[in-house]
Amino acid sequence: MSLISTLLAPVKAAKSGAGYMGEQASTFAASTDQVFDVILWGSVVAFVIIIGATVLFMVKYRRRSSNQKTSPIEGNHRLEIAWTIVPAVFFVVIFVMGFNGWMKMNVPPAGAIEVRVVGQKWSWSFSYPKLNVDGTAHLVVPENRPVKLIMSSEDVLHSFYIPAFRIKRDVLPNRYTVLWFEANKRGEYDIFCTEYCGDGHSRMIGRVKVVSAKAFQKWIDDGGGMGGSPLEIGKKLFAAKGCVGCHSTNADRKGLPGPPLGKAYGKMEQLADGSKVKIDDNYIRESILKPNAKVVKGYQPVMPTFAGQLKEKQINALITYIKSFK
Ligand code: CUA
Repeated sequence: MSLISTLLAPVKAAKSGAGYMGEQASTFAASTDQVFDVILWGSVVAFVIIIGATVLFMVKYRRRSSNQKTSPIEGNHRLEIAWTIVPAVFFVVIFVMGFNGWMKMNVPPAGAIEVRVVGQKWSWSFSYPKLNVDGTAHLVVPENRPVKLIMSSEDVLHSFYIPAFRIKRDVLPNRYTVLWFEANKRGEYDIFCTEYCGDGHSRMIGRVKVVSAKAFQKWIDDGGGMGGSPLEIGKKLFAAKGCVGCHSTNADRKGLPGPPLGKAYGKMEQLADGSKVKIDDNYIRESILKPNAKVVKGYQPVMPTFAGQLKEKQINALITYIKSFK
């Protein structure tokens, strides 16, 4: 039953208008799916012809008796030309469609909104250098405007993927890669990392919000929603910088790469080297800037440094937020 429903899922999705590649929310989506359709249905036709002919000939020309002789087969020019030209034309069509799409996707239009994307174990953060918005957890873009992403990694290979926009590209340390898109449907869509980048890989997810031009301007004027009281700023940074991917905010949740932070403040903590340390403002600060200086017992030194990424005010806000965990 589940196999049948899995096989029928594309048909259901196609009927619902979503397309079996999922929701279409950018100007690339329809044309990408069209190329996919041409390849898929071309392959289905080829499959039916080849397998059909194979089965037909197996039955029609089977050996009927032990002393049956077959006549030798000579070439047939017409047939040979046909089965060379028809697939060649099909491949040229696929190439032209694919190449057109690829060229479009590789040349961001002038006037696109520029966004810097930073991948880091295990979160995405976004900055809008020309709009003075820095380090947000979500990508927020206006509808019907081209957006250019300039992407880099703080550590290892990641890959930036927005299925609803049909865009995906590797994110590398030491080199910038570029993607662009124009979202044409308001809503919230998933961002995934599609390069295995460590044990937090599956939690390296984000959201892209497509909003009206007016709502986008309001969000920019608000500093990308990163303002507020120290507690509020701390809470937003805790999500935006990916702390939440490795540290639970209550005391008991285990199994994450980092120690839980609930009820942690004020506690004496056992360290990997056998010594003890009191969790106070200075220890939290040091752990953010030099994470591997004092690693808690039972944990690996895997946390990346946030030195240079956080302003003094932001570090204080994070400490305020961490103190608030019950
Ligand atoms: Cu980053 Cu997987």
